[in-house]
Amino acid sequence: MELMELIASRASVRDFLPDPIPEDILKEILEAGRLAPSAQNRQPWRYLVFTDNARIKKLALNCGIIGLSNFFISKAPCLIIACADSSRNVRINHQDYYLVDTAISFQQMVLAAWNHGIGSCWLAAFSEKKLKSHLHLPKSWRVVAMAPFGYPAEKKSLYSKALSSFAGSKDRLSLCDIVTMNPGKEQ
Ligand SMILES: Cc1cc2nc3c(=O)[nH]c(=O)nc-3n(C[C@H](O)[C@H](O)[C@H](O)COP(=O)(O)O)c2cc1C
Repeated sequence: MELMELIASRASVRDFLPDPIPEDILKEILEAGRLAPSAQNRQPWRYLVFTDNARIKKLALNCGIIGLSNFFISKAPCLIIACADSSRNVRINHQDYYLVDTAISFQQMVLAAWNHGIGSCWLAAFSEKKLKSHLHLPKSWRVVAMAPFGYPAEKKSLYSKALSSFAGSKDRLSLCDIVTMNPGKEQ
């Protein structure tokens, strides 16, 4: 797909077919994350990849109460948890860039997946504390986000339609709301 078409056609997918993601495509998705830029090239991202649906189901039960809102992950054939190792952080202007770096890398994976017709959905609704303890993650790691990945089911569930419309998923601010051209320049 052409890049702008890829970006414009991506949307969060919350209903999946059970078909597994072919190994070579999964590898390409992970490679897209690996090649991302990062502050001082620290590459703080660490990925946990689950391709066993029974384990994904178990994980869905270990995301805390808030995580139950994303129980649709239990139908996905693949789940990736994006972690960031704070020991590889670069702090500039009181900003911790390891989280930014990891978000850039994860979004590259989302787009690489969509390029193969594989849908996904960023998720932040989970208890980081519960997940870290369930997965025995190192103290220095943060869980930045997770996303189910899989081929989209044709029929969307009522629940996923509700989540998408609750989030106003189709809405975007216009360019004039978000862009200031040549700020400070006299008109
Ligand atoms: C950081 C982040 C966290 C998100 N967390 C959730 C979530 O917990 N549950 C969910 O259903 N969608 C979640 N979303 C998906 C957003 O609702 C969605 O991206 C937004 O509404 C725009 O819709 P679109 O992705 O279909 O374009 C999250 C997205 C981002 C970027």
